[in-house]
Amino acid sequence: MKRRDFLKGVSLAAVGTALAGPQAGAAQWMGSAADDTKGIDPVTGLSPVRSLNPEVSHPVSVIIIGCGNRGKTYARYAEKFPNGMKVVGVSDILEHRKNYLGDKHGVQAEMRFGHYREVFATGKKLADAVVIATPDDRHYEPCMMALDLGYDVLLEKPVAPTAKECKAIREKTKKTGRIVAVCHVLRYSPYFMALREVVRSGAIGEVVSIQHMEPIQYAHMSHSYVRGNWRSSKETTPIILAKSCHDLDILRWIIDKPCKSISADGSLTFFKAENAPEGAPKYCTDGCPHQGKCPYDAVEIYTRLKQHLGVFDLNGSKDPALIMSRLKDPRYNSYARCVFHCDNDQPDHYVADMVFEGNVTASFTMDAFTPKGGRRTRIMGTMGYIEGDMKEFTVTDFLTRTPKIWNMKVAEIPEYAQSGHGGGDYRLVRDFLEAVDRQDAGHLSSSIDVSIESHLMGFAAERSRRSGKKEKI
Ligand SMILES: NC(=O)c1ccc[n+]([C@@H]2O[C@H](COP(=O)([O-])OP(=O)(O)OC[C@H]3O[C@@H](n4cnc5c(N)ncnc54)[C@H](O)[C@@H]3O)[C@@H](O)[C@H]2O)c1
Repeated sequence: MKRRDFLKGVSLAAVGTALAGPQAGAAQWMGSAADDTKGIDPVTGLSPVRSLNPEVSHPVSVIIIGCGNRGKTYARYAEKFPNGMKVVGVSDILEHRKNYLGDKHGVQAEMRFGHYREVFATGKKLADAVVIATPDDRHYEPCMMALDLGYDVLLEKPVAPTAKECKAIREKTKKTGRIVAVCHVLRYSPYFMALREVVRSGAIGEVVSIQHMEPIQYAHMSHSYVRGNWRSSKETTPIILAKSCHDLDILRWIIDKPCKSISADGSLTFFKAENAPEGAPKYCTDGCPHQGKCPYDAVEIYTRLKQHLGVFDLNGSKDPALIMSRLKDPRYNSYARCVFHCDNDQPDHYVADMVFEGNVTASFTMDAFTPKGGRRTRIMGTMGYIEGDMKEFTVTDFLTRTPKIWNMKVAEIPEYAQSGHGGGDYRLVRDFLEAVDRQDAGHLSSSIDVSIESHLMGFAAERSRRSGKKEKI
């Protein structure tokens, strides 16, 4: 869309919605989202929302490898849209997880596997596609094995812990002609799709610079990157990939030019033994004298605030007594550890400055110490400015000076409301199934080719953080 056409859409929005914006004089667009499909929404001037139900010739059969949080998320799509996807196999080294998902989807006994190697040891292709949702350091091998057997792959991010492995997956994908979709789910969320569509319309002229922030939120930081699965950069991936490859990817996607260089800094400052308050025991469940004064108290976060319960295999229960028993159970009690007595090394603050082709600059910050999550973005263009917080964004045209607000009430669209990452999780699955059905990777916005770029940016950022030098990409 040309700048002129977009502005036409904007004025229609101002007339057509008759909704008062939160700011005086602001026009508001609501309930619409960018999509890459048919027609232009007459209210917003952007592409319309499409149903999450896929347009496929038959249900695509999948094997879920890794039946933890993400594996369950993607499998749930098959419950909602059985015409689009059928779970025919499951694999997890934990018996109870494999069987939980296996039972839910009526998977036959011979299609319930332990280690992912068992799936491929049969030497046969047992489904149309595999979903790889194992931990970060266990993506490369199953992906390569799957491609060798002719599967299409929905691959969790990060693609792999090294640039060499990422490139090897890209090469194998090319060689086998299969489809690999990387789970860069933000590309599929209505908010970021609309944001990108507005930028591409030319509505703010040429993009000159971007500020982008990822507020992790203090309890989320303690759960995932201090106590939890991603606490060790060596066992998984550095936090710039584990948490923020999405952000680097979104910057690359919006700017739509390759990143030339990056310089990064950041460190682990707080969650270290030397900052432990006096007398803090190893586990919060051991009667810590600082309970009530420490926001990172595991008992408070899990049993009272009931946050991040997905790791405890509670099957939907939120019973505080059951959660407490999990916190004392050796299989789960790593989540009860005092945040100052963990084996973590991930930075709790990280900054990265990037220069893209054409001297477009972007500055990124990732911060643990924030009350809420939700990425914040400011885009500076030659003719206008955009500011957003993942719920809504405001576009200010320097000529009209009237701010226009895009506000996608995802919660008001029932199908999207049940999908994580602002609707991105299920939309990614829908597009993946359609790509598999049509055998067309062009149907995806996160095919392996483009997704590798943000990973190379992440590896360069980490080299720069460690060396103190600017890195070329
Ligand atoms: N796209 C996103 O926004 C997003 C969000 C969160 C996590 N992730 C990524 O998704 C992946 C999975 O994360 P999660 O939160 O579901 O973790 P999880 O720990 O809940 O699930 C991983 C599962 O893999 C199983 N597993 C481990 N080794 C295995 C093997 N050899 N064979 C078969 N199964 C094995 C584990 O037992 C576990 O059940 C990670 O790489 C993570 O970084 C992506």
